[in-house]
Amino acid sequence: MSTRDIVVFVGSLRRDSFNRRLALALSRLAPAGFRFSLLELGDLPLYNQDDDANQAAPVQRLKAQIKAADGLVFVTPEYNRSIPGVLKNAIDHASRPYGQSAFPGKPAGVIGVSVGAIGTALAQQHLRNVLAYLDVPTLGQPEAFLQAKDGLFDADGNIGSDSRKFVQAWVDAYVAWVNKHAG
Ligand SMILES: Cc1cc2nc3c(=O)[nH]c(=O)nc-3n(C[C@H](O)[C@H](O)[C@H](O)COP(=O)(O)O)c2cc1C
Repeated sequence: MSTRDIVVFVGSLRRDSFNRRLALALSRLAPAGFRFSLLELGDLPLYNQDDDANQAAPVQRLKAQIKAADGLVFVTPEYNRSIPGVLKNAIDHASRPYGQSAFPGKPAGVIGVSVGAIGTALAQQHLRNVLAYLDVPTLGQPEAFLQAKDGLFDADGNIGSDSRKFVQAWVDAYVAWVNKHAG
């Protein structure tokens, strides 16, 4: 089997982001043959429709990475009960110009960690709305809402023992989802 390239959107630019740590830990739970790469979202300009005909280099890079990918993973915090602007900005860029979206048909998974008890549930639901419009087939179950607590990550950056089985089950379901949609 050839390598499946998965690009990962992390909705936080924070240096010590829990979601970035989660994204890195997820990549270690993926089986052989799957390669997870974190996308750079911090150098994207703010989306401006005036620039559609002349997209900036970071936007062109983002779109090329998405188009070349076999699957997408969104690892997002919840900001004010929705997705962070950083993530929405990236999605808006990659969806344009009209008719030239990078997204259609790319199988996706959504996961996130927040300090709040609902563990990004509302942000994920908003994101699912956006992805449905973009024609991105998104894994429905299992859902994964993680709360940032001591022990979620171990000293090596892996998922801690209490949550590892749960997160591994999510990764396994996501991998099966990507394989199911592979061309
Ligand atoms: C602007 C802002 C809005 C936030 N809103 C929420 C929220 O709606 N729900 C929640 O559970 N946590 C919220 N938080 C707290 C985040 O869960 C917390 O900052 C988390 O660490 C962000 O993820 P990160 O560690 O990947 O940066 C908010 C944080 C910020 C900065």
